[in-house]
Amino acid sequence: MLVIGIESSAHTFGVGIVSDSKILANEKEMYPIKDKGMIPSKVAMFHIKNFSKVIKRALEKANIKIRDIDGISYTMGPGMGPSLQVGELVAKTLAKELKVPIVPVNHAMGHIEIAKHFGNLNDPIALYVSGGNSQIIKKFENRYRVIGETLDIGIGNLFDNFAREAKLVPAWGSTVAKLAEKGKFIEMPYTVKGMDFAFTGLLTYSKKLIGKVPLEDICFSLQETAFSMVCEATERALLLTNTKELCVCGGVAQSKRLKEMLSKIAKENNIKFGYAPDEYNADNGAMIAYVGEKLLKCGISKNVEECSIKQRYRIEDAIIC
Ligand code: FE2
Repeated sequence: MLVIGIESSAHTFGVGIVSDSKILANEKEMYPIKDKGMIPSKVAMFHIKNFSKVIKRALEKANIKIRDIDGISYTMGPGMGPSLQVGELVAKTLAKELKVPIVPVNHAMGHIEIAKHFGNLNDPIALYVSGGNSQIIKKFENRYRVIGETLDIGIGNLFDNFAREAKLVPAWGSTVAKLAEKGKFIEMPYTVKGMDFAFTGLLTYSKKLIGKVPLEDICFSLQETAFSMVCEATERALLLTNTKELCVCGGVAQSKRLKEMLSKIAKENNIKFGYAPDEYNADNGAMIAYVGEKLLKCGISKNVEECSIKQRYRIEDAIIC
């Protein structure tokens, strides 16, 4: 089965092509984020300008023609409304034109399933960390359940927001990570409640230190404290559910330091730890195509007229087979 997947929940317009779980193409164009962050209408306009170019590139990479496609999947949510709508429209148009089945995919599920695929895992606890989300997730029968999560902002937003306030260029978490390499530790607010955690106290505290102590020290301490919080909650989730596998996924899973900390926890508790290469932790079309193929093979699809988007689409509301 040859499936094309379209991702457009945020700044990335991604197109992936998958055949029997093998990734044949994973192409993307990313909206350039400047100091003001993402303006939803501008991001959607960027996707409109770029979608045909990215599809064309993916088809060339996979060495197939658009008529060879057997099914289409797209990100239904969660994400920014205008951006999601572009992907939805492109997917629906292709499905109608090519007369092939279409299936909407939950974005978080895409991240988890692709991490399981690359990590060779069957039934892990998933730590899903990205700009807008930070959740601890486990599958029970045919649904994923969130068993721990941020009570306020996503961990990626914590780093990006601090980076903008500190006027880092580019104002991203990766710049915070780079500066953190040379920093020393300062104690900061640490908020873990069972398997949930919160980051705004930490953000406010870090912002107040700007100009008073070396920026490297703030970056190091901010990163160490935030990662320790999610690691503590994840370890608790692993032990309470007696789960023997762990994966980390989402944009922040690209962090070497976070993977180092999780790998230590896994080793100490005799747990198998896995994750996808960075290319597949950033938002991408391949993960949407991968889940799309899985669902289509189980006979799950929708009529084009029934397809929609859902900005606050929780993973609990999505079915997996
Ligand atoms: Fe994502």
